[in-house]
Amino acid sequence: MKRVGLIFGSRSVEHEISITTASKVYEALRQLQGEYETLPIYLNKAGAWLAGPAVDRLLAIEAEGRACREPARRKALQEQYKAQLEHLQRGTGEAAQRFLTPDPTVRGLSGNPERASWFKKTTGPPLDIAFPVIHGTHGEDGTLQGLFELADLPYVGPGVAASAAGMDKILSKLIFRGAGLPTVEAAWFSRRRWLADQPAVVREVETRVGYPLVVKPAVAGSSVGISRAANAEELVRAVGRAIQFSARVLAEKALDARLEVQCAVLGNHEPVVSECEELTQSAGIVSFEEKYLKRPDAADADLAPSHIPARIPEDLARRAKALALDTFRALDARGIARVDFLVDRATLEPFVNEVNTLPGSLCLRLWEASGIAPAALVRRLLALAVEAHEEKTRTRFESREGAGLVDRKHLMTPGK
Ligand SMILES: Nc1ncnc2c1ncn2[C@@H]1O[C@H](COP(=O)(O)OP(=O)(O)O)[C@@H](O)[C@H]1O
Ligand SMILES: [Mg+2]
Repeated sequence: MKRVGLIFGSRSVEHEISITTASKVYEALRQLQGEYETLPIYLNKAGAWLAGPAVDRLLAIEAEGRACREPARRKALQEQYKAQLEHLQRGTGEAAQRFLTPDPTVRGLSGNPERASWFKKTTGPPLDIAFPVIHGTHGEDGTLQGLFELADLPYVGPGVAASAAGMDKILSKLIFRGAGLPTVEAAWFSRRRWLADQPAVVREVETRVGYPLVVKPAVAGSSVGISRAANAEELVRAVGRAIQFSARVLAEKALDARLEVQCAVLGNHEPVVSECEELTQSAGIVSFEEKYLKRPDAADADLAPSHIPARIPEDLARRAKALALDTFRALDARGIARVDFLVDRATLEPFVNEVNTLPGSLCLRLWEASGIAPAALVRRLLALAVEAHEEKTRTRFESREGAGLVDRKHLMTPGK
C-alpha cells in the first residue's frame, strides 16, 4: 500500500478553497482504501506544516458541511469550521508539525527540531506520493513542486516550469505566442516602471492595446485584482488595484461579447481531453464572489455555474479540444491541467486565456461528465505521478564528459 501526502492550505488568498478541494480529494482517496493510505498535511496561513487529528477533523467538518442541507446543522458546522480553522492558526496544538525535507535520503516527514519529543522521531512516516491541492501562491506556482523535486518524491500534476508559467499570465502569454496559439492582444509592464513613468506606460498601452481593456495582475487568480478600463482615468485606477497583488501587470484587449469555455487535459505523454465546459455568462468580469461564493445552491458554494458540455457548435468544441492539447504540450505540462478560452461571440474564434495547473484543473464535475469518476481520476493521477518520476530516473544528473571539457585549474583558482 502506498502512502499519499495530501497537502493543502498554505499562504494564499485561496486558502479556504484549498480546504474544500482537499476534502473532496480526500473523499476520493478514501474510496481507494487498500491501494492508498492518505496522510492529510495542512499548511496553515503562516505556512506551518501540520498533520494529525486536528487536521483530519478540519477536513471532516468541511465534508459534512458541504453535504449538509439542514440549515441549523449547517450553521453549527460553519461555526465548528471557523473555530477549528482558528485553532490551527494559533499554534500547532494537538496537530504535530510534520514537514517534508528536501533531503532525498530522508524520504520521510520531519518533526520540529525545537520540540524535543518530535525531534526524537524526526523521520515520521515516509511518503510515496505527494498530492498537492494548494491553490495559488506557494503551491500551484512551482515552488512546492521544487521541494518535491529536491526530495525526489513523485508528485501529482505539472512540474516546476509548467506550474510557474501557468501561474504567471505574462509568461503564459509569451509561451502561447511562441507556440503560435491564438491569444488576445496585450501589453505588460512592471510596478516599478508604472510608478516611475505612468504617463509613458499609459501611452504605450493605449497605442498597443487600446480601450476597452482588462487589467490583470501577472500573478494572482480567481479574478483578484482584475478590472476593466474604458479610458485613461479608469486605466490608472485599474492598474493601481492590480499592482497591489503583483509586481507585474498585464493590460489585455477586452473581449466584451464573449463566451468562456474550458477543457481539462489528463495524461503525461498521450494526454486525453475532457468535454468542454461553458461558464455561464456574466456582464463583466467573472468575480471571485461569483466563482466561489454566490451560489444559490449553497452545498456547492465552491463551484461556478456552468454548462457541460458547452452549448457551442461541434466545430468550435473540436477546435478548443485540439488547442487545449497543444497548449498542454507547449507548456510541457503533465498529469493534469485545465485550459481556459475566451471565445469571441461574433466570430466564434477561440483565444487561449490561461492554463490552470493543479489543483485549479481538478474539475471533478467535468471529468465525471467525460466518463471518469473522482476515484478513477485520482487513481489515474497517482499512477501518472509515479510514471513521471520514473521518467526522471532516466535522466543523468552527473556528467563525466562535461567535466572533461572544463579545465579543473580554473575551477580551483577563481582569482585567475
Ligand atoms: N480579455 C478579456 N476580455 C474580457 N473579459 C476578460 C478578459 N480576460 C479576462 N476576462 C474576465 O476576467 C475573468 C478572470 O480573468 P482570468 O484571466 O481568467 O484570470 P483568473 O481566472 O486567473 O483570475 C475571466 O473569467 C473573464 O470573465
Ligand atoms: Mg480564469
